[in-house]
Amino acid sequence: MKDLKTLAIEAAHQAGKLLRENFRQGHSFALKSGFRDLVTEFDHRAEEIIVSLIQKEFPQHSILTEEGSVRPTDTASYQWIIDPIDGTTNFAHGFPFFAVSIALYYEGEPVVGVVYNPIHDELFVAEAGQGAWLNGQPIHVSHVETLQESLVMTGFPYDERLIPKHLAWWERFARETQTLRRMGSSALAMSYLAAGRADGYWELDLKPWDMAAAALIVREAGGTVTDLRGNKLDLSSGEVLASNGKIHAQMIKILQGERE
Ligand code: IPD
Ligand code: CA
Ligand code: CA
Repeated sequence: MKDLKTLAIEAAHQAGKLLRENFRQGHSFALKSGFRDLVTEFDHRAEEIIVSLIQKEFPQHSILTEEGSVRPTDTASYQWIIDPIDGTTNFAHGFPFFAVSIALYYEGEPVVGVVYNPIHDELFVAEAGQGAWLNGQPIHVSHVETLQESLVMTGFPYDERLIPKHLAWWERFARETQTLRRMGSSALAMSYLAAGRADGYWELDLKPWDMAAAALIVREAGGTVTDLRGNKLDLSSGEVLASNGKIHAQMIKILQGERE
C-alpha cells in the first residue's frame, strides 16, 4: 500500500501534467454560481485523475471534491479534500497562477497538504508535525514584523454583497502595508506565504477545498492560520487569515475595523 503523502504527490503530479499539456489552448468554460464562477472540462478531468488514484488505493476513505464527482461519506476517519484547479479563472485566461490542491484529514485534523503549480513546476508539501517543503527543500514563513514592511495578499469574493466590505479592507491595507497582491488562487497565495514570498493573506467566501491543504502548509512552515478574529480556523466558515504570525494581530485589528 502506498504511503499517503506519496499518493497525494503522485495525484497532484498526474493532474498537473494534464493541466500543463492543455494550458493556453483557449478553453471554453461553463458558469456555476454566476458569471465569474467558471468551470472547464479540465477541472472535471483533473478531478477524475485524482479521485481514481485515491479510490484505487483507499476505497474506504471519504473524498470531498469541488466538482462533486464523488459523494463524501461521514463515517470514514480519513477524508481527502480536493480542488482539481484552484484558480480556474487564471487557467481559462492563460494566466499561469493556479494549482492542484489535495489535503488529507484524519478525524478532522490535517495530516498531509499538497499544492502544485504545474506551470512553474512548484510542489508545496506539508506533513503534520514534520514540516513543509517546496520541491523538497524546507520552507519557512518570513520574519517581517510590521505591516509597513509587509506584502499582503487577498482575493475578491464572488458574492457581490461582500465586495463593499472587502474594498474597505483593501483600502486600509493599501494605506498601511508595503503592498497588496491579488493572485487568483487562494491555495497558491497561502503556499507563497509559507515560502516567505508574502507575509499576510486574508479572504472570505472561500470553500473548504480552497484552503484545506494550504492551511497545513502555512502552519508547518511556522505561520499562523485562523479565522478573521484570530479564532480557530473553521474550513466551513469561508474565512481565513494566514500570516507569518508576527503581523497577525495587526491584521486582525484592521479586519475587525479598529481605527488607525
Ligand atoms: C477560487 C480561487 C480564488 C478565490 C475564489 C476561489 P476556484 O477557486 O481560490 O483565488 O478568490 O474565492 O473560489 O474557483 O478557481 O477553484
Ligand atoms: Ca478553489
Ligand atoms: Ca477549483
